Amino acid sequence: MKFKGIFYLISLASFSLADFKAPNPSDFPDWSTLQRFTVKQQLQTTNFFDISVSPNKSKLIYNRVKLNDTGINSSINIVALDRGFDHTGDLVSEIGFDFSSPIWITDDLVGVLAADTPSTQNLYTISITTGVVKQVTNFTYPVKSVVYSPAAKKLGFIASTIQGHAPGEDIGKDGSKDIPSHDGMSYNKLFVRRGKTWLTDYRDQIFTVDADIMNGDLKVTGTPVNIMEKYTGGWERGPYSYNFSPDGKTIVFDSQVQNRKEVWKAKGGIFFVPSDGSTEPVLISSNYNGTGSFPVYSPDGKYIAWLQMMTELHDADQNRIILYDIKNKTKRIIAENWDQSPDSIKFTDDSSKILPIVPCKIDKVLFSLNISNEKLTRITGGGVVESVFDLNSDSLLIMKSTLKYPSTPFIISKGGDKISKKLTIENTEYLAKYWISPADTFWFDGALNEKVQGMILYPYGFDPKKKYPVALIIH
Ligand SMILES: *[C@@H]1O[C@H](CO)[C@@H](O)[C@H](O)[C@H]1NC(C)=O
Ligand SMILES: *[C@@H]1O[C@H](CO)[C@@H](O)[C@H](O)[C@H]1NC(C)=O
Ligand SMILES: *[C@@H]1O[C@H](CO)[C@@H](O)[C@H](O)[C@H]1NC(C)=O
Ligand SMILES: *[C@@H]1O[C@H](CO)[C@@H](O)[C@H](O)[C@H]1NC(C)=O
Ligand SMILES: *[C@@H]1O[C@H](CO)[C@@H](O)[C@H](O)[C@H]1NC(C)=O
Ligand SMILES: *[C@@H]1O[C@H](CO)[C@@H](O)[C@H](O)[C@H]1NC(C)=O
Ligand SMILES: *[C@@H]1O[C@H](CO)[C@@H](O)[C@H](O)[C@H]1NC(C)=O
Repeated sequence: MKFKGIFYLISLASFSLADFKAPNPSDFPDWSTLQRFTVKQQLQTTNFFDISVSPNKSKLIYNRVKLNDTGINSSINIVALDRGFDHTGDLVSEIGFDFSSPIWITDDLVGVLAADTPSTQNLYTISITTGVVKQVTNFTYPVKSVVYSPAAKKLGFIASTIQGHAPGEDIGKDGSKDIPSHDGMSYNKLFVRRGKTWLTDYRDQIFTVDADIMNGDLKVTGTPVNIMEKYTGGWERGPYSYNFSPDGKTIVFDSQVQNRKEVWKAKGGIFFVPSDGSTEPVLISSNYNGTGSFPVYSPDGKYIAWLQMMTELHDADQNRIILYDIKNKTKRIIAENWDQSPDSIKFTDDSSKILPIVPCKIDKVLFSLNISNEKLTRITGGGVVESVFDLNSDSLLIMKSTLKYPSTPFIISKGGDKISKKLTIENTEYLAKYWISPADTFWFDGALNEKVQGMILYPYGFDPKKKYPVALIIH
């Protein structure tokens, strides 16, 4: 969620464990066979970021980040899903400077963002067949959230600007405006909802630029256009996410709009705009008062779905799923009686279902929602699902973590994760040497007599027959 704050209160309390289920002795091993898992092992666990599946579903890329005592080793790894899932290798370990955010441009080209100087960040491509690295953009300012739409023959990206100026424009030195220069910052506004966040005049904006595949390489052929610039309803405070339509002609994005009451009332929501920025963005969620987020197109181009809160109170309401029919501009809430609040949604490739990821007790669960009969099916059991990719008519790829292992790719059946295949990449063997506590759960009465769920983790060497002090962390 957008403004989520995490507050930890740690105290030592020696309250009675009487409410807890008695620990199961079989959860505890012969302690001589496993080593203690400490912060050091936690740091040295491999982390996977920016995982994505290639357009033809044959490969998986991710940014693999591994820390040790003295440094960080970041590389782009590739897994060949079409070779029994176990063929892994480094795509590139070094391209001269730091890089991040791998994306698929075509089935052969992977795009990465790399900064050759601290104030810029440009798109480079790496061919997975030849390994050749090429610079694609030559911007003088940092960009992020880069997407290539082959249908639009455009690159989309987000860059920060001051209203009326192009990104990277040297506005401080022309003397005409009292706005921040490279030498100083004026923090004009305290955005109270975020506590101690001050806002400058800079805002993120979505840009598109013509770009085409020529002789297997991605080439920029135009100049960037700020597609949010024509909006007359207020200077944006967003976007948070955006997507090209399947035909490449339009873009949908979510953004808040500055307003006097923004500390307690959301204004803005889901916007729809031509991908060449030729007309003003239109707010398509204006009939709802709360925050709209996570807009996605159905792959058949018929619908936009998004998450919508119904009250103006910022990010404190349940997310409903809205289905917007692009042709006749009608909207409806689907699965209206569902009492859960999804965090994210994605369509299946055949556009028949939406796959919501939903916090449920200690887990984050993947559901499938048939948009014609609104039937909901729970697909995953325990664990925290972070992302999902449709692979084919039978299976999905998910990234899932539990308290026993970090984010890991699994292939699961669309009908449920009983048939699931864990892709063994690095951590499996590494973590097998250590004891990591199972998490038992329990419920207790919290403030206003609300039931609160707790998790209990046991220390290395735990003996179920003994009494232990408890460190209580309240979130
Ligand atoms: C730690 O990581 C750095 C950077 O990747 C590397 O140069 C160094 O050799 C590593 N040290 C050990 C002990 O593995
Ligand atoms: C970083 O990790 C890759 C992949 O495991 C390895 O080939 C490379 O030697 C590592 N680099 C350093 C500096 O540790
Ligand atoms: C997917 O694209 C890659 C790279 O072009 C190619 O090697 C592979 O054969 C393709 N796989 C399928 C299933 O089309
Ligand atoms: C990027 O632009 C600068 C000048 O603005 C030029 O010197 C440089 O060669 C360009 N680099 C590439 C890779 O096009
Ligand atoms: C939105 O808020 C206005 C003013 O508070 C209220 O009149 C209107 O009924 C609300 N609309 C919806 C759909 O809740
Ligand atoms: C809009 O189109 C959908 C089918 O795509 C249909 O179910 C719905 O009734 C239409 N609504 C209106 C108001 O025409
Ligand atoms: C979705 O529901 C419709 C209407 O009941 C049904 O015809 C269709 O088979 C369902 N789709 C899937 C993929 O289950």
